[in-house]
Amino acid sequence: MRKLFFLALTALMGLQASAQNVCVSKALFRQGDDMNWAKPEMDDTSWSEIDITTPWDKQSFPPHNKNYAWYRIHVNIPRSLLQRADQQNMVIFNMPKADDVDECYLNGQLIGSTGRMPTDAAGYGTAVNDVRNYLVDAQKGGIRWDAENVIAVRVYNHGGSGGLFFNPMTISCPTAAEGLAMRLTEDSNGQAHCDVEISTAYASTTSGTFAVTVTDRETGSQISSLTRKLSVKRGKPVRLSVPYDKYKMCQLTATYTDAKTGKTLSEHRQLKYILTPAAPATPRFNGAPVFGVRPGSPVIYRFPVSGERPMKFTCADLPAALQLSESDGVLTGSINRVTVPSGSPEGPASPEGLASPEGLTFTVVAENAKGRAQQTFTLKVGEHMIGQTPPMGWNSWNCWGLSVSQEKVISSAQALIDKGLADYGYGYINIDDGWEAESRNPDGTIEANEKFPSMKGMIDWLHERGLKFGIYSSPGDYTCGGYLGSLGHEQQDAEVWSRWGVDYLKYDWCSYERVREKDNDWGFASCMRPYLLMQKFVREQPRDIFYSLGPLGGTQVYLWGLYCDGDSWRTAPDINDTWESIRDVGFRQQAGLAKYSSVGHWNDPDMLVVGKVGWGTNLRESRLTPDEQYTHITLWTLLASNMLIGCDIAQMDDFTLALLCNNEVNAVNQDMLGQQADRTLKQGDIEVWSRPLADGAMALGIFNVGDKDQQVDMKALITALPPLRESWGEASAKVVRDLWRQKNLTASEFNGTIPAHGCRYLKVQ
Ligand code: GLA
Repeated sequence: MRKLFFLALTALMGLQASAQNVCVSKALFRQGDDMNWAKPEMDDTSWSEIDITTPWDKQSFPPHNKNYAWYRIHVNIPRSLLQRADQQNMVIFNMPKADDVDECYLNGQLIGSTGRMPTDAAGYGTAVNDVRNYLVDAQKGGIRWDAENVIAVRVYNHGGSGGLFFNPMTISCPTAAEGLAMRLTEDSNGQAHCDVEISTAYASTTSGTFAVTVTDRETGSQISSLTRKLSVKRGKPVRLSVPYDKYKMCQLTATYTDAKTGKTLSEHRQLKYILTPAAPATPRFNGAPVFGVRPGSPVIYRFPVSGERPMKFTCADLPAALQLSESDGVLTGSINRVTVPSGSPEGPASPEGLASPEGLTFTVVAENAKGRAQQTFTLKVGEHMIGQTPPMGWNSWNCWGLSVSQEKVISSAQALIDKGLADYGYGYINIDDGWEAESRNPDGTIEANEKFPSMKGMIDWLHERGLKFGIYSSPGDYTCGGYLGSLGHEQQDAEVWSRWGVDYLKYDWCSYERVREKDNDWGFASCMRPYLLMQKFVREQPRDIFYSLGPLGGTQVYLWGLYCDGDSWRTAPDINDTWESIRDVGFRQQAGLAKYSSVGHWNDPDMLVVGKVGWGTNLRESRLTPDEQYTHITLWTLLASNMLIGCDIAQMDDFTLALLCNNEVNAVNQDMLGQQADRTLKQGDIEVWSRPLADGAMALGIFNVGDKDQQVDMKALITALPPLRESWGEASAKVVRDLWRQKNLTASEFNGTIPAHGCRYLKVQ
C-alpha cells in the first residue's frame, strides 16, 4: 500500500530522472514547526502539494512572517546514478534557494543548512540567495538506493516572501572533473609571474593535460607556452608558475583537459602591465611647485622628489620662519601675515617669513650621489590658500573599512615612504569611519576607540615624517558606519581634532537626514547648514584643515559646496572595484561638472580602487582589469580629483606602484591651472575628456567605454576638438605625447587599438 502511495507521489512530485540526475520540483508542505516532521516515517498524507521553485505566498499559502514551514520530498534515488560517478563516493543534493534560512534532512539526518536560524547562538542571519549544495557520502550518508527517501526541509521566513524558490532540487553524482577548480594569482614584483593552481574538491584523483599560453595583446604574437601532464588529488593542489614580461600587454590562457572525460577548464586573464618608465636615479621633483597655507598655521610639506637615497635637501633663500630638513626634505615653520605697503614691488621672499600677496618664493635643491635637481617653489599664504592642487594621499576606507586600526594606519604610512609614494606627492594619511569611541566623555568631548591607543602619538609620528593626517566624521548623531557623529558637538570635535593635529576632515552625511526629516526642511539651505556650522569651527582652529564634504545621497553638493568653503566635495555615491562602478561614478556622473571645480574647491568622485581593497578585514586584488585600472587613474587625474589611494600600501605590488607613480600622469592632476577636464567628444563608445594645462598644452584621455576593442584614429579625434582643430595645421606641427609611456607619438602611431574599457592618455603641445 505504502509502495503504491509512493509511486503516485513520485508522479505528483514532478520528478524527472535521467541517467545523470534526479530532478524534483514538487513537495508536500505544511506551515508550522515540529522536529518530528524531519522523520521519514511520519504521516504527511494530509499535507498540501507545493511547487518548490516559487515562494509559498506566491501560491495559495498565506504569508507567514517570523515563522517556520516544512517541505517533504519523497524520491527514489536510483543506484544507476553512481555509475557515472567516476569512482566518486559522493552525492550532491542541489536544493532550491530558501527565503530566508533552511535546514535540510535526508531520511531524518541533517545534511546541510544555510543561513542562521533565530535560535542560532550568533543570532538570525539571512542567506536568501545562497546556492545550496549539500554533499552526502554515497555509502555512509544514509541514502536508500533504489528505494524511497524523504528529504525534509525546514524553512524559516523572517519577513516578506517565504519558502523554497528559484531552482528545483537535483540529485546527482559528480565526476572527478566536476570537482576541479582553477585559480590564478599574479605577482608583478621582480620577475613577474602568474601562478595557476588546479585543485579538486572531490575524493578521487583526476589526470589530464594542462596548457598555458601567454600572448602579446598588441602584436598577437605568442610569448611563451607550456604543456604538462599532471594528476590532481584532493588536498594536494598542483601549482604551476608561468613567468611573463610585465612591460608588455599580455594575455594568459590556461586550459586543463581531464583525460577521462575530456572536460576542460579554462581561464583567460589580462596580465598586469607596466607602462610607466622607471624613474631616474638622479633627483627629480615630482610635485607641483606650489603649496598653500593660512597665515600662522603650521606648515607641513614634504618635497616629493624621486631618486636614489640618501639625498640632501638645501635652500639658500629659505625664509627665516621656515625650516627644511636636510635628509628628507620636510618643510616646517609658520608664516605671519603682513600688510604689504602700497606701491611696494611685488613682494620678494621675506627673510622674516612675512607673507607677500603672491606668497614666498624660494629654490629648493635636492642632491644625491648621481646628481642634482632644483625647484623654484612658492608657498602661498592667505586665508583661502588651502588645497592649491588636489590632495594626494591614502584613506583607510576602501581597504580596511570599519576594521581600521592605528597599526594598519602606521603600516600604510611607513610603506608610503618606503615604497616611494611620498616622493610622488602622496602626503595625506587619512582614517575614515571606525576610529570613534562608543560614547563621549562626561564633558562631551570625543575620544578614539581602543583600536587607536594613541591618536596624538600616531599623528605626531606622521608629522615628524612630513605627512599630514586626516579624520572622518558626520554632521548627524551617527556616522554612516554607525559610530558617533558630531551633531551637537561640532565645536568640541573641531577643537579636539585640532589639538591632535588633524590636517584634513572628511565630513560625511548619513544620519543628518534625520534632522532634516524632523525639521521637514528639504531645501539646499538645510543641507548647507551643518556644513557651514562645521566650517566655522574648522576654520577657527590654529591649523589648516582641508575640508572635504560627503556625498549626501542624491544631493548635488557641487552646487553649494563652495559657499561652505569646502576644499572638495563628493560628486558621486560610493565607488566599488568593478567596471560598472567606474563607468557610472566616473564617466556618467562626472560629465558636465568641470564648471563647479576650481583651485581649492575640487570635485571628488571618490577614492581610488586599485591595489588590494576589501572594505573590511579580507582584502582582495581589485576586480578591475589592468586596462580598467589605467582608465580609472587616467580619468581621475584628468578630473582634478582628490587622489586618495584606497588599498593597503604595505601590500602594494610593482604594477600598482607604477600606476600611481607616473610623474607625467600625476602632473595633469596637480596642474596649477586647476582646470578640470570634461567630456568634449563622444562617438559611440569612444569618449574624449580633455583639459587645458598651465603650460598651454592640452591633456586628453581617449577612452573606449564599450565592451569591444576599437580601432581608433587618434589624430582625427584630436583635431575634432575645437581648440586643437584650428592650430593643428600650423607650421610647427604639434607634439603629441603618450603620458603613460612618456614618449612622443610618431605619425605612424596615431592609428591604434584601444581595448575594451581601456584608454590612451595624451598631451598635445
Ligand atoms: C559613506 C562614505 C564612504 C565612507 C563610509 C564610512 O558611505 O561615502 O566613503 O566614508 O561612509 O562609513
